[in-house]
This record gives sequence, structure tokens and C-alpha cells, in this order.
Amino acid sequence: MTASARSCLTIVLAAGEGTRMRSDVPKVLHKVAGRSLLGHVLATALAAGSDALAVVVGPGREDVAAEVAALAPGAPVFVQTERRGTAHAVLAAREALAGGFDDVLIVYGDTPLVRAETLKRLRAPLAHGAGVVVLGFEAGDPTGYGRLISNGPNLVAIREEKDASDEERAIKLSNGGLMAISGAHALALLEGVGNANARGEFYLTDVVEGAVRSGLAVAVEAAPEAEVQGVNDRAQLAAVEAELQRRLRAAALAGGATLIAPETVFFAHDTRLGRDVVVEPNVVFGPGVAVADGAVIHAFSHLEGAEVGAGVSVGPFARLRPGARLAAKSRVGNFVEVKNAEVGEGAKLNHLTYVGDAEVGPRANLGAGTITCNYDGVSKFRTAIGADAFVGSNSTLVAPVTIGDGAYVGAGSVIVEEVPAGALAIGRGRQVTKEGRAATLRAAQKAKKKAGA
Ligand code: UD1
Ligand code: CA
Repeated sequence: MTASARSCLTIVLAAGEGTRMRSDVPKVLHKVAGRSLLGHVLATALAAGSDALAVVVGPGREDVAAEVAALAPGAPVFVQTERRGTAHAVLAAREALAGGFDDVLIVYGDTPLVRAETLKRLRAPLAHGAGVVVLGFEAGDPTGYGRLISNGPNLVAIREEKDASDEERAIKLSNGGLMAISGAHALALLEGVGNANARGEFYLTDVVEGAVRSGLAVAVEAAPEAEVQGVNDRAQLAAVEAELQRRLRAAALAGGATLIAPETVFFAHDTRLGRDVVVEPNVVFGPGVAVADGAVIHAFSHLEGAEVGAGVSVGPFARLRPGARLAAKSRVGNFVEVKNAEVGEGAKLNHLTYVGDAEVGPRANLGAGTITCNYDGVSKFRTAIGADAFVGSNSTLVAPVTIGDGAYVGAGSVIVEEVPAGALAIGRGRQVTKEGRAATLRAAQKAKKKAGA
């Protein structure tokens, strides 16, 4: 049977307390590349071919359960009421283990850098009869990790740091923590684990000795140290972010985008860039952004939940918020914010503009300082601007309001009523000019100042 034909349950351990994060947010809900640590792990588990997921959380972690429900609907969440070790945590998901899966993968919710390919490799020996497969790595500094104890070519035990002899501590080949166990033997192996060790915990790592005792083959798959890097504190969170950004930048470049200064561009896990997209320095992508072929994102722009069409120009210093949809060849220039709005093909919002809850027709041109007043302090209202409309600089469009196709709004207008297609609207008071009166005004101002002094 090939690995893909075998059914697979992945159990995610996420009952850690995360004390060293010094946070009110549970550790696995902290984000890297715009997605929770747990979200990354769930996505990787699915990409590795898991048919079912189960998540083990600590008591009172409704927030973690809600994240599971959002990202992996239907995946059961089990509560480990007391933190009594990694094997004890896996057994909290006993009900899921009883589901008769061929393969059981055990991963950590705080270890998001492991690749799906690595998890597939971890599963592979199970298809060839292995009972347990351990993810090993050569640790630069193995302190704190379990050491892989071999007898000739065979792994016979994993020894935790606290239980290890000096000789064992000198071993650099360490346990990455993630494991694959044959579904047929998983429950028996886990139930066979005791807690006679320095910490008095039920160690998942002891399934190795149990497997050896039962005559089951134990295999080791190697991974780069970077993939097993976990998050215990904020410095490690930043290190994981840096590694993810490195991967995302490399993927963007490989996919045919130009990043002028890749190290200054920050991506979300799901950013999509078309061919020949150019991203200038210091651009930040939040989640949910797609940029079509040939678009240019100029320096210092911030995009989130936005669709950028082909050949569009964004920025410098532009902000695209969720629901911004820019059709091909439109332009969103400096100090422009777009939220929940459709901008038509070739439309121009070149300077200092806010467009929210709006439609802007094709080729419409909004002058500098145009503002859609979409909010009256209680409710949001929509603004519709027609094709080829022209809105003069510093105009205030008080929603709900419609400006028809080809209409023309004079600069400085406050528009509160519909402007029909083809109409000219000037919504401002008339200018008053008094010949020669500047000198009189200045004299009056000086007199007033002198009297005050
Ligand atoms: C574990 C391994 C160690 C390995 C290291 C890799 C064991 C006994 N040791 O050690 O060999 O080198 O990972 O990082 O497995 N968890 C629970 N409930 C518990 C205990 C742990 O959910 O009762 C979760 C934690 O939240 C964490 C994961 O399991 O995500 C690992 O636990 P942790 O305490 O970090 O294990 P280590 O001592 O680092
Ligand atoms: Ca750990």
C-alpha cells in the first residue's frame, strides 16, 4: 500500500501553557505570516494527506477550540485536564485514536515550520511495516532535547535530557518531537508508557522502547533543525517569523515577481503574486491578498484582504483594506486608503483619498482629497460613482449618494444629493471678493493685536 492510500489521523498537541510568552493569548494563537501557529500546523497536516485531525488543548481553552472550528471544521478538540506529559496528552485523544486509522501522526501546535513533505516522509516507513517513526535532527546545541539512543543501526530509545547519562548527553542526534505511529499499535504502545522518570511524566518518547520490546521496527527520518524549531518565547516567535518570511520571499521570486529589496517585504502565508509583479521596498501584505500580473506595488504600502488587478499601480504609501478590489490598470496613489470598495478598470485615485463602501466606475477620476463619508457614527452607507465621472479635489461625498456616469463634481464640493449622469454639481458656497479690502483687513488685525498686548 502506498502512503497516500493509507488513512491518516494527525493529533496536534496544544495543551502547553506558554508561560514564557508572558501573554494573555494562548501560545498557539500567536501569529506568524498572518496566521496562528496552530493554523500553520493544521494546514501542514492537511497538506501531508491527513484524513482526520484532532487537537489536544488545555482546560478552559475555548479560544483555541474556536480557532480549530474556524480552520478545520469538524475536527474534534480534546481537553487534557492535567499536564502530565506528551504521551498523556496524546491519550486525551483516545477516542480519535480508536477510529482505526492506518497511520497516526503526532505534531506540536507550537512547531509551525515543519514542511508537509517532511510529514509525508515521516509516515512513509509505516507503509513498509515500521511501528514507530521518529523525526530526528542534528542539533547545533542539543541541550533540552531528547537524545536518540541507537544500538548499531537501530534506534532503541529516546532519552530526555534530565534522565540522560553524560555519555548520552554527548549525542547530538536529537528528537524533533514529531512522530508517526502505526495506527494498529498506537493505543497499546501509548498505554504501555509509564512515568518512572525524572519529571514523573508520561513521555511520548517511551513508545520507542515499547515498540522495541514488542518486536516492532523503529525508524528515524532526518529533518533540518530549522523545521523542528518550536516557539516558547517571543524571541523564538520572531525567529520563526523570519524563517517563514525567508521562505515566502524565495517563493515569490521563484514565481516570477520582482522584489527590489526582498528582506524589506513582509508576506502573509497566503499572498498570491502574478507574473512580473514588482514589489518595491517596505511593503507589508496582510492575509488574503492577490496581485495579478504586471501590477506594481510601490514602496511603503500596506495591503490586506485586497484584490489587485493586472497592471494596477498601488502606492507609494497606499493602504488597501479588506474588500478593496482594484480592476485592471486602475491607479491608487500616495496616501490613499481603499476599503470594501470596487475600483473600476482604469480609474484613478491618485492622491490623499479615502474610498470606503463604494463603487468607482471605470475610468472615473477622483481628485486629491476626495473623501467618501461612509459613516455617520452609527451606520455605514455606500457611495456609487459612475463610469468616466470626475470628482474635483477636496470633495466630500456624503453617503448614501450616487454620482452618475460622466458627471462632474466641482472642487471643494460637499455632495449630499444624487448627481445624475452627465450633470455638473458644485456643492460649495459662492466665493465673495471685495476689491482693495486686504489693506483694511490688515490694519484692523494690527489694531486688535496692539490693543491685546
Ligand atoms: C519534547 C520531547 C523531546 C524532544 C522535544 C522537541 C517528550 C517527552 N520529549 O520535549 O524528546 O526533543 O519535545 O521539541 O515528548 N504538551 C501537551 N501536554 C503535556 C505536555 C506537552 O500538550 O502534558 C505539548 C506541548 O504543548 C508542546 C509539546 O507537547 O507543544 C511538547 O511538549 P514540551 O513540554 O515542549 O516537550 P519537551 O520537554 O520540549
Ligand atoms: Ca519543547
